[in-house]
Amino acid sequence: MRWIRWVAKPLVFLACLIPAARLGIGALNAVEGWHVAGISLGADPVKTMLHTCGRWTLNFLMITLCMTPLRDLTRSFIWMRFRRMFGLFAFFYVLAHFSVYLLLDQSGKLGALWQDIVKRPYITIGMLGLLLLIPLAATSTAKAQRRLGRRWTQLHRLIYLVLILGVWHFWWQVKKDIREPLLYACGLTLLLGYRLWKQRQAMARLSAARPPSSGAASAAGTR
Ligand code: HEM
Repeated sequence: MRWIRWVAKPLVFLACLIPAARLGIGALNAVEGWHVAGISLGADPVKTMLHTCGRWTLNFLMITLCMTPLRDLTRSFIWMRFRRMFGLFAFFYVLAHFSVYLLLDQSGKLGALWQDIVKRPYITIGMLGLLLLIPLAATSTAKAQRRLGRRWTQLHRLIYLVLILGVWHFWWQVKKDIREPLLYACGLTLLLGYRLWKQRQAMARLSAARPPSSGAASAAGTR
């Protein structure tokens, strides 16, 4: 299916860049002499950048994990052709999120970052999420997948943990209105619940197909 490779994938790729492009244009608008109508980073540009990149990290983690249920529901493998791209965009946005935090919010001071990691639990959790995404991004190529075999699937299950940490990180920093992190937590529960349900179904099918053990067979024979 050439159209996926040459049309759908480039279009989806460009669409995934829209939030970053809007931030870039918003940042340029802050510079004198530039103005693209309708795009502004508001009164606190650093916060806007930090929050937008954090949100899109979560969104892309969720979108990545939606690909398997969509494949099962539509009985079409097409979704899986986009999964790696979405996962890598989650990594791209978390790197941007972290860079804005370190370079603009903390003025590049590694000591301040360390203090935050130690003192603020939601930062510790976010950092853990970022660190766990690194091996997933590093082994995202088809070559690494072939080389690691079954271990690749096991390693990439870490994405569930990253999503849990991401939602937790968001929940922990919200002071009063928990509606938005709650929405993400519901999405997370659905996505993980679907996987658990599928696993149970597969196990039930396996035990139904398994021939009775020799002990049970002989006991049945004597009855
Ligand atoms: C998988 C990793 C991560 C995810 C999914 C994530 C996601 C998010 C989300 C959704 C928000 C809230 C955005 C909003 O309120 O609109 C946020 C805020 C924030 N995140 Fe992360 N984040 C991650 C990693 C990190 C890391 C590594 C750091 C820094 C070391 C970090 C620092 C922050 C800070 C400082 C805020 C803003 C808190 C505030 O405004 O009070 N995050 N993040």
